Amino acid sequence: MYILTKPVFLVFEPELIKNIFTKDFQYFTDHGSYINEEIDPLSGQLFNMKGLKWKNLRAKLTPTFTSGKMKMMFQILVDCSHELNNVMDQVSKGNEAFDIKDILGRFTTDIIGSCAFGIECNSLKNPNSEFRNYGRKVFEVKGFQAIKTMLAFTSPQILQFFNIPVNRKDVTNFFLDVVEETVNYRESNNIARKDFMHLLIQLKNNIKIEEGQNDNLKQINDGGEVGTSLTMSELAAQVFVFFIAGFETSSTTITFCFYELAANPDVQDKLRQEIKDILEKHDGKLSYEAITQMTYMDKCLNETLRKYPPVPFLTRECNTPYKVPESDLTIENGTVVIVPILGIQRNPEYYPNPDKFDPERFSSENKAKRHAFTWLPFGEGPRACIALRFGLLQAKVALVALLRNYKFTLNSRTKSPLLLDPRTFTLAVEGSVWLECEKLTSGTII
Ligand code: HEM
Repeated sequence: MYILTKPVFLVFEPELIKNIFTKDFQYFTDHGSYINEEIDPLSGQLFNMKGLKWKNLRAKLTPTFTSGKMKMMFQILVDCSHELNNVMDQVSKGNEAFDIKDILGRFTTDIIGSCAFGIECNSLKNPNSEFRNYGRKVFEVKGFQAIKTMLAFTSPQILQFFNIPVNRKDVTNFFLDVVEETVNYRESNNIARKDFMHLLIQLKNNIKIEEGQNDNLKQINDGGEVGTSLTMSELAAQVFVFFIAGFETSSTTITFCFYELAANPDVQDKLRQEIKDILEKHDGKLSYEAITQMTYMDKCLNETLRKYPPVPFLTRECNTPYKVPESDLTIENGTVVIVPILGIQRNPEYYPNPDKFDPERFSSENKAKRHAFTWLPFGEGPRACIALRFGLLQAKVALVALLRNYKFTLNSRTKSPLLLDPRTFTLAVEGSVWLECEKLTSGTII
């Protein structure tokens, strides 16, 4: 198909996607998105980086997201869930309908603010906190900003040619200033906190981060020059991508999950029961270990990510002419490949009755019947989401904290059937998702 005048290669076939993302990855190493570190320092982040530069930085950042590091940050997530419960408590007392996306966006902003910047954003307490406002601005796609965002993914050359930065100046200045202040404060006061910022400061100072046992990205580390350090603005760009990639995708996932749980009360009850049973075995305490035992929760989240992948399509840019196996077609150098994962994940050929929310599609038995590349909410291969564990962990903590204490139903302000907003980059609902909740008397605040 064509985007403006540019040909792009649209792939639906799972086996070909597998080749492009894994076996023949060397032809398709980049996302093909906009990057210009000189005029737009925040664009110099991992998602946009290309070739060897990306490979080296990915190798450096990968150890930041091992399960060991997730365990280390777990308490920060639990602390933020206390405030989430306080907000829900207020809402339930007032018997009012509430916009769940807004509350969860504030929850994930507080988590990422704390883990990435080491700052208490307090956006759950104060919906107009500075971080929340800048977070909203990044995803505001109106007027010229909408055109720039569209070009950044479809024709980055146009922006490069005219030297146009994608990120707004006020957003750039805010994030650069906050990061520099935080780094300087920590270095001059010798502060070591269990968060991403600390790990990134270590990289800036050329201290190699230990890899966890579960890290399977060794092949990327081999040959990467892990010894080179991050500059201050490179560090800021990575904090920025953790922030924007971290709060919106996760709050979107949790929002859609709550929508389906409210629409399917039997699933909601079953999940609540699992949460209660497992927490009982752990003396009522929410721990990392307890969360990893919640297998029905995994199924519910996987099914949510199937129906509503927050990033609805994936891209790769071809860097060397690639002959498509078993065809006479060649993908030319510079061509962008698009994988429409929303379409694939709602294809009745792979998921019969695709609009039905059915967590059992993700039982081991049912999963084994499908091609693995028909479920791609985090992408796949060396370029897949670096922080999927962290994204899922945020979702799980929110689900435990809220389902343990409240019962959720749909409010009539939620449009039925849901309408997806065509103007947003990540999947979002027109008019948002409105719920009501009732406090459960047997619930205990964690
Ligand atoms: C449910 C939550 C999340 C979803 C659904 C999600 C989805 C994705 C997807 C689809 C990609 C592109 C993968 C590809 O092209 O194959 C991606 C990349 C990325 N994500 Fe996530 N993400 C989530 C959470 C997070 C979080 C919490 C962070 C950071 C703290 C994060 C940071 C990144 C980064 C840095 C990349 C670029 C990786 C690279 O190019 O090497 N994501 N994510």
